[in-house]
Amino acid sequence: MRVSSDSPRPAEVFARYRPLVDDWPSFLEALDRPLPRCAWAHPERMEVATLATTLGTLGFRSEPLGWQADALRLPSDARAGSCLEFAVGGFHLQEEASLAPVALLDPQPGERILDLCAAPGGKALRIALLLGRTGTLVANDLVSGRLAPLRFHMNRLGAANVVMTRWDASSYPRAAGAFDRVLADVPCTCEGTSRKSPEVLARVGLREISRMRPIQVGILSQAVRCCRPGGLIVYSTCTYAPEENESVVDEVVRGFGEGALEIVPARLPGLRSAPGLAAWDGRRFVRGMEGALRLWPHLHDTGGFFVAVLRKPEDGPGRRAEPRSAAPAVDEELWRPVLDRFGLTGEDLGELRPVPRGRRRLSLVPAGLALPGQPRPEATGLPFLRLDSHFPKLATPSALVLAPLARDHALDLDRPAAETFVRRSPIPWGPRWSRAAAPGWWLTRYAGLGLGLGEAAHDGHEARLESCFPKAWVPGGSGG
Ligand SMILES: C[S@@+](CC[C@H](N)C(=O)[O-])C[C@H]1O[C@@H](n2cnc3c(N)ncnc32)[C@H](O)[C@@H]1O
Repeated sequence: MRVSSDSPRPAEVFARYRPLVDDWPSFLEALDRPLPRCAWAHPERMEVATLATTLGTLGFRSEPLGWQADALRLPSDARAGSCLEFAVGGFHLQEEASLAPVALLDPQPGERILDLCAAPGGKALRIALLLGRTGTLVANDLVSGRLAPLRFHMNRLGAANVVMTRWDASSYPRAAGAFDRVLADVPCTCEGTSRKSPEVLARVGLREISRMRPIQVGILSQAVRCCRPGGLIVYSTCTYAPEENESVVDEVVRGFGEGALEIVPARLPGLRSAPGLAAWDGRRFVRGMEGALRLWPHLHDTGGFFVAVLRKPEDGPGRRAEPRSAAPAVDEELWRPVLDRFGLTGEDLGELRPVPRGRRRLSLVPAGLALPGQPRPEATGLPFLRLDSHFPKLATPSALVLAPLARDHALDLDRPAAETFVRRSPIPWGPRWSRAAAPGWWLTRYAGLGLGLGEAAHDGHEARLESCFPKAWVPGGSGG
């Protein structure tokens, strides 16, 4: 770990947890090692074996995570986010411990899920893709600036089922309608992130812990209110402090009263973890708290994490979802010519359908998208078409979804050409493609992955393909 000589040492900062840790020297040793990275394959775009081969070819050694079938572990210095396959949404990078709350939330296709503190969005992205092209994820955060990276990765990964809202989670409107599952991945002191961000060691302490606790109690309480009877609530933090973990869950479970909430045992086969604490600082917690899950870094070579799973009984108070459906369908004449050009039909959109996004744009959303009654969404679905040019222009997020299905005006690029394309450089047409360079839009793909939209251009004697790949998406650029 990169700590300067005058930085506080983990052994001192975390000394009060010594009685809680089974192997103190191993814990301190783990905090001193760089944190491995983790990559997971997009469920519709890439097999995990293909991801492993691709990363290997690029020089990144990986091994299966084991406890999550679609994920791989990478060395801490593997800069896999700068490759072509990442840029076009073939996979995502996320810290291994962060996969645990979503694995325990266990999203099921078609469900309506609320992520109350969603930014910057690793867990929301994973929930959205596990829901598939059905269901609804409402991804909320208080800080609008922090929602920008979430929006970028949603577009890159083609998550059409996401509605973004900005609201204080502790008063999230009940008018949003009830949710099948709610994630409360609350703000915390982040003690468990010291392997990646050693500077937290200088910040943490009892004062900061006491400041966080009421915020966490408020957010978890509202998570319970927003969940339907029989639904599941997952509470998580990346900190060790019992005051921010078991103690928060204890206060909320007691607050809702006898029988209103059950603590569900949270175990993930293959992930070495420790149970929640039954007591701390002379206070016994409610029955079942050992069912919570603690990740101490030395147990599975991860960051530190805490997860508790709560269930509301079927016959408990609360309402079933009363969501609004998405905006009315738009006139087919607006989007049909675009599908026609690429030899696509309405069937190729599957469960997705176009809806208006402002006056001059369309988005794709799942037909059953269930919008919150309140708050007003900041963004909904996947950008589909811009209607302000003479021929509607397909937006890159939807081009990535549709390119693998295209039957006309589609080009299969080799790797050098694909690399050129995502770096926004023109590709000379020459004899490489058997089709003549018909003017207008073309879809491009590489090894089964959509790459985006290009435009055939002629300058008198030579034809070329101009790339429309977004500047902010260029591998190694600001967006990735
Ligand atoms: C631990 S981070 C969430 C990480 C996120 N779930 C992920 O996987 O990337 C906590 C988030 O809570 C947000 N936050 C803080 N106070 C909040 C509040 N009162 N309501 C909603 N979000 C809040 C912060 O902006 C921050 O993005």
